[in-house]
Amino acid sequence: MKDNITLIGFMGSGKTTIGKALAKLMEMKFVDIDKVIEAHEKKSVAKIFEEKGQIYFRDLEREVISQEALRNNCVIATGGGSILDNENVKRLKETSFIVFLNATIDCLYLRLKNNTTRPILNDSEDKRKLIEELLEKRKFLYMMSADCIIDIDSNTNIYETITKIKEKYIVS
Ligand code: S3P
Repeated sequence: MKDNITLIGFMGSGKTTIGKALAKLMEMKFVDIDKVIEAHEKKSVAKIFEEKGQIYFRDLEREVISQEALRNNCVIATGGGSILDNENVKRLKETSFIVFLNATIDCLYLRLKNNTTRPILNDSEDKRKLIEELLEKRKFLYMMSADCIIDIDSNTNIYETITKIKEKYIVS
């Protein structure tokens, strides 16, 4: 069994909400990579994108992941784009059981359509289409990076989800 559990998946798939509940259930600490980045920069992810750009954010994300991956007894929620960098996946894999929260497009769209905190989705006229396109590009990476895939839709019960993850982690 690895030291940590890392949650990966698209924006809106529930990494933070599920991560917090899972950490409680497992008596592990909860680490949110985006929150660590925000604390480091003393500004929101949206502001970092706006003022310093995506490359700056991705460099910081890589640095933070390489540090946080060294912790133990943690549930780690990653940003949805973290799997785009192979180095991140490699670092996380060394110490974590990786869970892909595989949410349906309907579920993602419902949760993201009125959200303005995700800079990657803000410039689009057709948000649903953009979510579909981005997910299409990323899905393979999520699948390849994961030790376990948990399907999520709008009716998924959070307690069932965290129980399922716990069971898979324990037998890993
Ligand atoms: C991103 C996802 C966000 C955040 C940033 C970029 C992405 O995290 O890291 O806005 O590229 O998918 P969440 O998945 O927690 O929304």
